[in-house]
Amino acid sequence: MKRIAIFASGSGSNAEKIAEYFSERPDVEISLILTNNPQAGVIQRARRLHIPVVIFDRTTFYETERISKLLQNESIDLIVLAGFMMLIPDFLVKSFANRMVNIHPALLPKYGGKGMYGQFVHEAVVAAKEKESGITIHYVNERYDEGNIIFQASCEVLESDQADDVATKIHALEHFHFPRVIDQVLAKSHL
Ligand code: GAR
Repeated sequence: MKRIAIFASGSGSNAEKIAEYFSERPDVEISLILTNNPQAGVIQRARRLHIPVVIFDRTTFYETERISKLLQNESIDLIVLAGFMMLIPDFLVKSFANRMVNIHPALLPKYGGKGMYGQFVHEAVVAAKEKESGITIHYVNERYDEGNIIFQASCEVLESDQADDVATKIHALEHFHFPRVIDQVLAKSHL
């Protein structure tokens, strides 16, 4: 049995798609959903899906071993960042090297880095009059959005598209690809 922990800070639509994808699979479990945001929509989704939720604050995340210990006690094999907006502390990156993946709503290395998340990414893409955008799924290292890329997919950006239109296209790509790319990562021998 492979055990996944999902970290999310917002609505959690990706977390839900991942949970749905693996719901009939006896060999994979979404064991925990963790969030830094007590208002996050992902909390309601997790409750509906009967997945345990852990809410933590900044100090706990950066200055204690509580989250590391919890992941260890729960025998987590893979961490999935699905709209998680905090930088991962070094000690957690090290203990989950090549066992932590993130999704970013742009074609990295474009539109990545600190402050580039969610709607800000789509606004920047529209402002730059890009003809395409897309998604990047990558391993996580100590720096925002710089880990090795596992998968990318693109979509067209029309001249008439606003940031919301781009967001809709990106979410569709994410919901389709992220669960199956996670499935491929789980099949790798080091996990
Ligand atoms: C997703 O589009 C994800 O790519 C993005 O946040 C959104 C979360 O949506 N992540 C980042 O910007 C990380 N830098 P969701 O809460 O509906 O899954």
